[in-house]
This record gives sequence, structure tokens and C-alpha cells, in this order.
Amino acid sequence: MRRIAVLTSGGDAPGMNAAIRAVVRMAISRGWEVLGVRHGFGGLLQGDIAPLDPRDVGEIMQRGGTILGSARSPEYDTPDARDRALDRLRTERIQALIVIGGNGSQAGTHALATMGFPAVGVPSTIDNDVYGSDMTIGVDTALNVALEAIDRLKTTASSHRRAFVVEVMGRHCGYLALMAAIAGGAEAVVLPEKETDPEDIALQIREAWERGKPHALVVVAQGASYNAAKLTEYFEKHRERMGFDLRSTMLGYVQRGSDPTYADRMLATRFGAAAVDCIAEGNCGVMVGLRGAELVTTALHEVAVNRRTLDQEMLALADALAI
Ligand code: F6P
Repeated sequence: MRRIAVLTSGGDAPGMNAAIRAVVRMAISRGWEVLGVRHGFGGLLQGDIAPLDPRDVGEIMQRGGTILGSARSPEYDTPDARDRALDRLRTERIQALIVIGGNGSQAGTHALATMGFPAVGVPSTIDNDVYGSDMTIGVDTALNVALEAIDRLKTTASSHRRAFVVEVMGRHCGYLALMAAIAGGAEAVVLPEKETDPEDIALQIREAWERGKPHALVVVAQGASYNAAKLTEYFEKHRERMGFDLRSTMLGYVQRGSDPTYADRMLATRFGAAAVDCIAEGNCGVMVGLRGAELVTTALHEVAVNRRTLDQEMLALADALAI
């Protein structure tokens, strides 16, 4: 008999519930006991832990967010807190932990693994910036939300021959912005990974109109040096010379709160089941992930020190398609 625990940590992502459900049901079908830790690593420190049975995770797969609650827990970053987390796991007789979350959460999982505790990571963040997986839980849903907004903005922009900037999430990573720009047919994209001159954006908008486009849409990532606020401020300041307004929409957390798509439910379900398999096989200190269509595992020490980099081919594709 094994006793394992699961927690969700960091920013919530649509599909986390499907991952929790898969962990609980796959573990219980092996005859194990499962505990849910509420509110991430902070909840672990406080002992906010309760058993989960198959009925507790019924009818949650189709819901966004996480039934366990999530948190960024700066307190857990200290060595003393990590020792206390380990003590808590031992007091609760928990033999292995599955952590569903993004980069910060995987670093926290790695810390436990280095202290000898069997821990497995499941990559989940709408940013898709975790090393070791082509795709993370929540990305597909967040992109679909962004695309719905972009399609609507283009409709109104075309009626008025207007220029719009739409800001998507991504503090350090432009994946969402780049993919939304390609799939949404944007005229320009502004990313944290690439310096952007607002004068170049103005030129791209003017040239789009000269080529007969009825609208001009710019997608920016939240973490770009010229995010939506800075870009509109620049355009307002130079309004006379620009000759047009740039209207702004910030999607923000709307992208995180949606119910998960089919793709996210499936990905999360496969990841949750794979994490339980890892524990059963004694393959701990790893994060599950997807490479192509295959499920893979990557050592947490690699995940912790690496970041996904921007796909330059995709960037070139976005530019080439914007003619
Ligand atoms: O979950 C990832 C993310 O949504 C980033 O895109 C964003 O920068 C950040 O989380 C916002 O985090 P918080 O929930 O702490 O405001």
C-alpha cells in the first residue's frame, strides 16, 4: 500500500483538474491512498491536507481552475521551509508527491527530490515555457480564448479600418503571443525575447493599410518591453505624426479562467496517469512531458536550470504570413 499526495502550484491553468482526477483515479486503481494538498506548497507547510477519493474528483475534468487551489508560495523558497515541508510529508506518512505547475513549481519539486523525497512534476502553465515538454497543460485553452478575442477584434477593426493592439499573458515568454499572432493572422507581434522599436510597429501597420488590409492587429506579450500600455502611450504621444490611433485590449486572466478544451483535458489526463506510473516504477525526481506524440520524462535538475527558447522558425513564419 502506498500513500501519495498531489498539489497544484503557481498560476492556475485550464486542465489542472483533469490532471488531479487522473492522478487520484490511477493511484486508487492501483490500491494506493491519495491525499490532496490545498493551496500549493504553502498548504503543505500548513498541513492543509485531506484524502481524495474517486467521487471527490467527479465532474471536475470539464472545469477550469483547480479544486485544490493554487498559490505562489515565496515562503517555501527558504531552506528552513523546505525542511519543514519534508517533515510535514513524513508526519503525514506521505511516500511520494506529484506537483502540477509551471517553472517555479518544478523548481520546488526539484528541491524536495534533492532532499531524497520521491517527487514527480507535471508541467502546467498557459505560458508553455517549461523545459522538457513540447506542450504544457492550459496552453491550448488559453490560445483558443485569445483567438476568439482576436477574431472579434478583427471584425470591428475591419469595419472601421482601425489599428488594435491586444495583449496576451506571458511575463517572460512570448509563446502565447507568437502562436496567437500566427493563428489569429496578426500584422505584427511584440515579444519579451526580442527588442522592438515602436516605430517599426507603426511602419508595419502603415504598410498593411497600403497593401489594402482593412485592419491592423498587433499582438503583444505582457512581458514585452513595449506591452499594450507602453505601446499605446507611445502612439498617443506621437499621434499627429502617426496619423492614426492604436486601440488597446488586455486579455489578462481571462485566458487562464476558461474551461479546458479537449486537447488540454487529454494532455492533463495523460500527464496525470504518467506521473502515477513514474512513482510505481520508482522513476522519481523527474517531470513528465510530451515530445512529439510521445510521453517522456526529464530529470528535474535539468528542468530547473533550463528554459524553453523562442522558436525562430515560428517567428519567421509570423513575419512572412503578415504580408
Ligand atoms: O501562469 C502564467 C502566468 O499567467 C503568466 O503568463 C503571467 O505573467 C503570470 O502567470 C501572472 O501571475 P500571477 O497569477 O501571479 O499574477
